[in-house]
Amino acid sequence: MANFRVGLGVSGGIAAYKAVEVLRLLQKAGCEVSVAMTRHATEFVHPLTFKALTERHVIVDDYAADNPDPIAHINFSQNIDLLLIVPATANIIAKFANGVADDFLSSTYLATTAPVMIAPAMNTTMWEQPATQRNVAQLKNDGVHFVEPVAGELACKTVGTGKLEDVENIVAQAMALLAAETQGRRESEPSAVAGGSAPHSLDLKNEHILITVGGTREAIDPVRFISNHSSGKMGFAVAEAAAARGANVTVVAGATTVESPRNVRVIRGITADEMFAAVKNELANTTVFIGAAAVADYAPANAADAKIKKEGRDTMTLELKKTPDILAEVSRSRHDGMLVVGFAAETNDVVGYARSKMEKKGLDLVIANDITKAGAGFNTDTNIATIVSHTSETELPLMSKRELADKILDEVVRLRHST
Ligand code: PMT
Repeated sequence: MANFRVGLGVSGGIAAYKAVEVLRLLQKAGCEVSVAMTRHATEFVHPLTFKALTERHVIVDDYAADNPDPIAHINFSQNIDLLLIVPATANIIAKFANGVADDFLSSTYLATTAPVMIAPAMNTTMWEQPATQRNVAQLKNDGVHFVEPVAGELACKTVGTGKLEDVENIVAQAMALLAAETQGRRESEPSAVAGGSAPHSLDLKNEHILITVGGTREAIDPVRFISNHSSGKMGFAVAEAAAARGANVTVVAGATTVESPRNVRVIRGITADEMFAAVKNELANTTVFIGAAAVADYAPANAADAKIKKEGRDTMTLELKKTPDILAEVSRSRHDGMLVVGFAAETNDVVGYARSKMEKKGLDLVIANDITKAGAGFNTDTNIATIVSHTSETELPLMSKRELADKILDEVVRLRHST
């Protein structure tokens, strides 16, 4: 089943071709997408392109003889979790702002109860016109979300504001809004857990966050391995929280026992070596690295090719070799502006060991958890942690891992603004 249902509205501007890429990225993120186009949009991209990619009828005119649904604007608008307009022209913005419903897309806007997100693209003068700005302000006041156009060279060869935001950013913001809406709905349900995290703004929308999650497995033979109790709950909670705050999130996951969040990219790296290789591949664009994985410090030096037999052995000695310290290596080779955050799973002198890890590995932040405390550490839904930075130490009480994730990200945001 799809994660979210998105109605993608395409209006008639040169950037309409970028809506095709938005559609593909939404599908990759697990969304089921239905497309509606204005008549002018079809001058730029043929509806067949969207039809082929969605395997659904693309509605331009609900009165058209080939429209399979006689009340399409109601059925379309009531069966989506988000109405996303890419690109939005000055004309469609004006219609939405003034309640004009003279075509399928504008009727859909009036008929939907789903949140609406608009990514405008137009000539700078049109964007800056008081009439357009009045309409944008009206829609913001009505609760519509905007992915603001950016400055750059426009199709008309002028340079100024009016260019469609990067498609990756549009999709990241759409996914963050969907996640925040789902979270908001969960919290307003009577069964919501007290103390759940409050919705945040998109304060991480410019960050590419790479997170290691879960435990690694180091083979002894084809049947047996060395591992630990990490479930992935803590790392996935950080990934989910970061995506909800607008970050582009990639997870490199070892062995995990829980489902990964829906709106993040997950790459598997089961052994320490595989995890390290996957991390190195992703580092170029990373702006924040968070090591939440429990990586085995040692692996069998020579894993057996065949199952080791127990006959004739009362004891067995395994020779172990050190694994790469992924966090230390990332920190050592980091590029300018990259923040590096580690975890420390400790049983005694928790903050002392965490601080010494921070110094040794050159980290910006360490999340120290005392895994001996009830409700903290491995495989629990809660944690008890102290967030240690070079200038502060924040001791936190027992809270859900999702809530702790937001506290960690608050600290990342604080560090970003203090550097
Ligand atoms: O997954 P859960 O069940 O929710 O459990 C969460 C957790 C307890 C695993 C998590 O909160 C946690 O503390 N993760 C780090 C566990 C750990 O391996 O700590 P460490 O003190 O051994 O390592 C310190 C840091 O170096 C960690 O950020 C670790 O990811 C990193 N490391 C360690 C060794 C290594 N070879 N490579 C690394 O990157």
